[in-house]
Amino acid sequence: MRMPESEDALATLSGHYFQLFEDYLGDLLDTRGDGVPPRLWDSMAYSLRAGGKRLRPILCLAAAERSGVGPQKALPMAAAIEFVHTASLIHDDMPCMDDDDLRRGKPTNHRAFGEALALIAGDALLIWAFGYALTHLPRGGVSFEKALKAVAALAEASGPSGMCGGQVLDTDSESQSADDGFVYSVASAKTGALIRASVVTGALLGDISDTDLRCYYDYGMHLGLAFQIVDDILDVTRTKDELGKTPHKDEAQGKNTFVSVYGLDGAKRLAAESSEEACRAIEELFPEGDLLIDLAKSLADRKS
Ligand code: IPE
Ligand code: IPE
Ligand code: MG
Ligand code: MG
Ligand code: MG
Repeated sequence: MRMPESEDALATLSGHYFQLFEDYLGDLLDTRGDGVPPRLWDSMAYSLRAGGKRLRPILCLAAAERSGVGPQKALPMAAAIEFVHTASLIHDDMPCMDDDDLRRGKPTNHRAFGEALALIAGDALLIWAFGYALTHLPRGGVSFEKALKAVAALAEASGPSGMCGGQVLDTDSESQSADDGFVYSVASAKTGALIRASVVTGALLGDISDTDLRCYYDYGMHLGLAFQIVDDILDVTRTKDELGKTPHKDEAQGKNTFVSVYGLDGAKRLAAESSEEACRAIEELFPEGDLLIDLAKSLADRKS
């Protein structure tokens, strides 16, 4: 199977985390959930298996290992985050939202399974995420207290004041003019919160001081913002084949993006600045260099 360029770059850079996660998810999806109607399982598995960069699981596993927790133990958390992210993509693509036909190089979930099933598959993934992490983290040896803290952080980042709230702001902003502060609020909530939580939940599984946790938090926050700025840039600079999703959607829908507010060059500058901020935050913990620093640099320059 052909891998888009930046999936390839991320997989190469993050090496064993990417493969560890792919193997875990593949095995999990092969088992088929007990009592789950086959149509629902197929719809959920379709979007989860379709690929994607797996950035959020990689960040979670990397932060966990750096906080003293073997990545194996953190896999249920990484999976929960990918469930939430994939659900958000299924819903984001529906006709009532961005109305997209292509995702991860394949027909969107509602195109393949119909709107009703896509809606429920997204709901099911979201709910499964929290139960899955809470059940499987302790089975792997993580204390209940740590599991609860990490899962609560994921809930906070995904819910009304995080991803869901950001998606509402994004939809509200269509065809309305917005000031620059607004695009920051939308991006930080709809995308930044979950990327920040990917790093923070991994760190929370280990024994970590508040000072160190702050570095992970700041890193994730700046990285999340940079990631959405680049997503806005790619929408106007890349092709369908490169992205695995339909380009030029933002303008067609009258979205306020970093490109519409700052222009292409302005958006590129802001992406580079946010990525540098992310590097600075985590360099406090790893002054000699680290994968997390390399990831932030490569994501600012990604091609899909
Ligand atoms: C796309 O996320 C949606 C945004 C939050 C910008 P990704 O670009 O991480 O999508 P996948 O997981 O690689 O498909
Ligand atoms: C999606 O933002 C954010 C979430 C799914 C939470 P976009 O609408 O910009 O993502 P793409 O461009 O469709 O991947
Ligand atoms: Mg959207
Ligand atoms: Mg979209
Ligand atoms: Mg986009």
